Amino acid sequence: MVSYKDLGLVNTKEMFAKAVQGGYAIPAFNVNNMEQLQAIVQAAAETKSPVIVQASKGARQYANPILLRYMLQGAVEYAKSLGWEKPQIVLHLDHGDTFETCKDCIDSGFSSVMIDGSHLPYEENIALTKKVVDYAHQFGVTVEGELGVLAGVEDEVSAEHHTYTQPEEVVDFATRTGCDSLAISIGTSHGANKFTPEQCTKDENGHLVPPPLRFDILEEVEKELPGFPIVLHGASSVPQEEVATINKYGGALKDAIGIPEEQLRRAAKSAVCKINIDSDSRLALTAAVREVFATKPAEFDPRKYLGPARDNMKKLYKHKIEAVLGSAGKAE
Ligand code: G3H
Ligand code: 13P
Ligand code: ZN
Repeated sequence: MVSYKDLGLVNTKEMFAKAVQGGYAIPAFNVNNMEQLQAIVQAAAETKSPVIVQASKGARQYANPILLRYMLQGAVEYAKSLGWEKPQIVLHLDHGDTFETCKDCIDSGFSSVMIDGSHLPYEENIALTKKVVDYAHQFGVTVEGELGVLAGVEDEVSAEHHTYTQPEEVVDFATRTGCDSLAISIGTSHGANKFTPEQCTKDENGHLVPPPLRFDILEEVEKELPGFPIVLHGASSVPQEEVATINKYGGALKDAIGIPEEQLRRAAKSAVCKINIDSDSRLALTAAVREVFATKPAEFDPRKYLGPARDNMKKLYKHKIEAVLGSAGKAE
């Protein structure tokens, strides 16, 4: 048993309470490899932003669970060496699918886990989430549950349509499970194709404008559970300049559309205190790598293409922290 406390990590309890109170959101960036982690730590340390490093089950297998644990321990020490005296870094399991996966993460240094029972019948979701909460809380690990289903692919789960969160269920769910935060479905989805062009309108410049998020549902949820930490999955903005670079250098991304940043700024001011971003980082990495491959075809030193990719991700993370989520300076 390895406690997250021994790795220098923190759980989400205090940072969520402050974020809800302060009207900002904590970034939750997905991690699969060293360059992403380096970029996250540099961005968080330079902005003094609390940060959630999250790994899906697949990412954890890809990185290797043992290596990942030591990488996070290293991330805390690295952050300190960058002048961040008290780093506030969470290691979170993204979309935990079973009790066993969550337990394995809790036992090996994660400070927070998500149990995603959103696709289960309501009572089964409650029973599974409660089982994880009862185990996790013994060790001070915080737990995110989910109510409502996002359209698109949720790790190994995929759904054709959104099933929006029903605000009348949230009090019962939060009370009976004891979860520390709740992911809700209000129109976001995973991946780089969140809306079809047909679902969008056009602005005066001919740019596609996606349909707004269901802020009415979010407001209802806030009324039911005042001050309770809410989580937004599928919150990448899919920067069009990254999509353009990818496609310019041989990529084939079609109709890639994300959540406008203005919508995320609005969400961050509400009870939404954790905003999940994975696809944007993948796009930033891929764009930089493709550009090097296309413009310097003789290059074969990985540092020469993964280095620019890391810089591009860091720029993206800092932008999210400073210009969208408002979390800069909240972990001085
Ligand atoms: O919500 C899913 C995350 O983007 C992680 O995706 O399962 O491909 O690692 P993954
Ligand atoms: P995006 O695909 O929009 O980045 O969402 C990531 C996410 O929700 C991870 O859980
Ligand atoms: Zn997600």
